[in-house]
Amino acid sequence: MDDFPERAFIPDQPNPIATDAPGSVTEMPSPSFIGHIHICTDVNYQAMVDFYVALFNGEVTAVNPGNPMTFITYDEYDHRVVVMYKEGWGTKPENPVGYSHLAFGYRSLGEVVFIYKRMKEWGYKPHWTVNHGNSTSFYYQDPDGNDVETMVDNYPPVITKSYKKNYQFSEDFGPMPDGNFDPDKMVELYEQGVPDTVLLDRNQVKRLKAEGKL
Ligand SMILES: [Fe+2]
Repeated sequence: MDDFPERAFIPDQPNPIATDAPGSVTEMPSPSFIGHIHICTDVNYQAMVDFYVALFNGEVTAVNPGNPMTFITYDEYDHRVVVMYKEGWGTKPENPVGYSHLAFGYRSLGEVVFIYKRMKEWGYKPHWTVNHGNSTSFYYQDPDGNDVETMVDNYPPVITKSYKKNYQFSEDFGPMPDGNFDPDKMVELYEQGVPDTVLLDRNQVKRLKAEGKL
């Protein structure tokens, strides 16, 4: 919304993007998108904000100074991730229950590779890079040790869903770590012009690894 004027204002009235008349919702709705994520942090508050702003090429839309929390977005929505300061909460335990990781999807391998290069320059290195079959994924850790995945689907969504349902954990698929790859070699192959149809193909990844190229 580049043409939307940035100003202090109270909107005249709510103007939602959709309305449903009473009685017109007749089935249990599924979400239309994941709205946002709140992350509690303590000693790493500022480092956490810096990490997510860097990762998202994001924008801070608001800071609540009284109860410190920073609202960060990467698109037209007002917030996608909130980093909340919780004094005295300490650090993340070693084996916490709860979310294992957050995954953020990107349009292309080129975008995920670009992010890798920038993040590396800024001192954030992924701890796992893998072709899952359905996706090609780079896993980082935020300063508190929460896993954050940047990923590109290897196929269009419907095909990826079918791959997941029918193939991914079959005997033919093989152990997941077979899809691990060296991110720097991935950058090299990508920049040499090896096409995405090869670099996103789990079997090709295995072959390139066997040849010492990935
Ligand atoms: Fe994931």
